[in-house]
Order: sequence, then C-alpha cells, then structure tokens
Amino acid sequence: MNGPIGIFDSGVGGTSIWKEVHQMLPDERTIYLADSKNAPYGEKPKEAILQLCIKNTEFLLEQGSKIIVVACNTATTNAIDYLRSIYKVPFIGIEPAIKPAALHTKTKRIGVLATKGTLSSQLFHNTSKLHAQGIQIVEQEGTGLVELIEAGKLESEEMGDLLYDYVKPMLKADIDCLVLGCTHYPYLIPILRRLLPETVQIIDSGEAVARQTKAILLKNKLQNTETGLKRKNQFYSNTDSTVLKSLLGDGRHEIACLDF
Ligand code: DGL
Repeated sequence: MNGPIGIFDSGVGGTSIWKEVHQMLPDERTIYLADSKNAPYGEKPKEAILQLCIKNTEFLLEQGSKIIVVACNTATTNAIDYLRSIYKVPFIGIEPAIKPAALHTKTKRIGVLATKGTLSSQLFHNTSKLHAQGIQIVEQEGTGLVELIEAGKLESEEMGDLLYDYVKPMLKADIDCLVLGCTHYPYLIPILRRLLPETVQIIDSGEAVARQTKAILLKNKLQNTETGLKRKNQFYSNTDSTVLKSLLGDGRHEIACLDF
C-alpha cells in the first residue's frame, strides 16, 4: 500500500524517531508533522493533549497516511488508547523504556526523565508497576527542556544547568540506567554523556519504535510497492522551521508551513 507513514510530535523532537523509522524503512514514504506552535504538550491537561492529537491525526489521515506513529511520549501515554478507539489505521506509540531498563539495571535503581504529562499518566504508572517490580524509579520532570530545544538552545548554558540539576538526584540515588522518556531528549545525549559517569547507560525507545512500525506494516500487508517515489519525505511545521531543519541535519529536506 502506497500511502505514507504519518508521524507527529508536539514539535521537533519526534525527528529522532523519524530518523530511526526512515533508516529502518528506506523505501517507505513518510510525512512528519511538528506541532511546535502548541509545544510543550507535557504541561497541558489530558483533555487538551487529546484534542491536539485528534487534530494532528486528522491532518495526517487527510494526507493519506496508512499508519500513524505517535512520536511523542506525552501524546502516547495520554491519547493513544482513544485514538485507537476512533480511527481505523494502526497506531504505533512510544513510551518510556522501563522494561529494558529494569532488565538491565544492576543497582536496581533507574532514572526516568520525562514530561509532567508522561510521568502523571495512567499508562506510565501501569507500565512501571508491571515491569519494574522491586526496582526504584527516580522520576524527574524535564521542565523547560522541550522549550529550550524548540528554541534552538540545545548547547546553551541554561540547558547544561537544567540538566545538571535534573541528573543530580538520580546520581545521588545510584542509578545505572537513565531512561529518556521524551522524543526531544535523544538530542541531549551528548550533554548528558558529559554529566553522567560511564557506568550509567542511557536508554531511549527510538529503535524499538522503528522495529515495531516495520512489524505492523508487514503484519497488515501495508508495505510500499511503488518504486522511484517522488517527494518521498514531507515535513510540516506550524512555526518557523529553522530548528526543525537543523535537527534533520540535511538541507535537502523541504519543510512546508502549516497554519493550524
Ligand atoms: N516529544 C514530546 C514527548 O515525547 C515532548 C512533549 C512536550 O511537548 O512536552 O513527550
């Protein structure tokens, strides 16, 4: 089936997922929607997140998406059950990788850096309860991180200071795994690596999401069959797209402006 894989995030962070999906499925068309005007989702009430997810889904469906990747932990943990209940297309979500961290930790203490919206969601609580029995989870809200990334201030002093404050309690608790529970955060890995000892493994779910996307495409016989596709990867943003462009890291990508 030759529709694109639709991918959305509250902003530019989901490009970390787009890269994994594109790498694993290079013959598929993709369409990425960055709802940066409404970022961050993580500070909004569940109902508001739900409405934004519906708006994003409707847009991607209008573009003919055959499958939708919710490339946002906050959107997944708050809205994916609802989206699955009202739309027919398959949805792939992303949530903090508690299970792999719980299997890997030796100190039995893991850190989770995520948005307020993710950490307070029922899905996050259920997953933690199910997969992290006997393991201490040091939760940390990443307040301000998404805003700085959206503003292109990845390498700023402010970012370094915030991250230092956020990892301090985790190191004090002797974690040996840090779960990145937000798709914006993989872009922080170089800074986090400088702040964390080598013994702390950083875990994110990007590759797992790409693997799952491939599995769902195969299971539903939705793989692309067309060759020589034109306009293979499309990007949409509803704000200035400079940061999106720089994170994609390849000047060839055109970004269309959306007004919603
Ligand atoms: N990338 C989103 C996530 O994974 C960021 C959420 C936000 O906008 O606060 O949760």
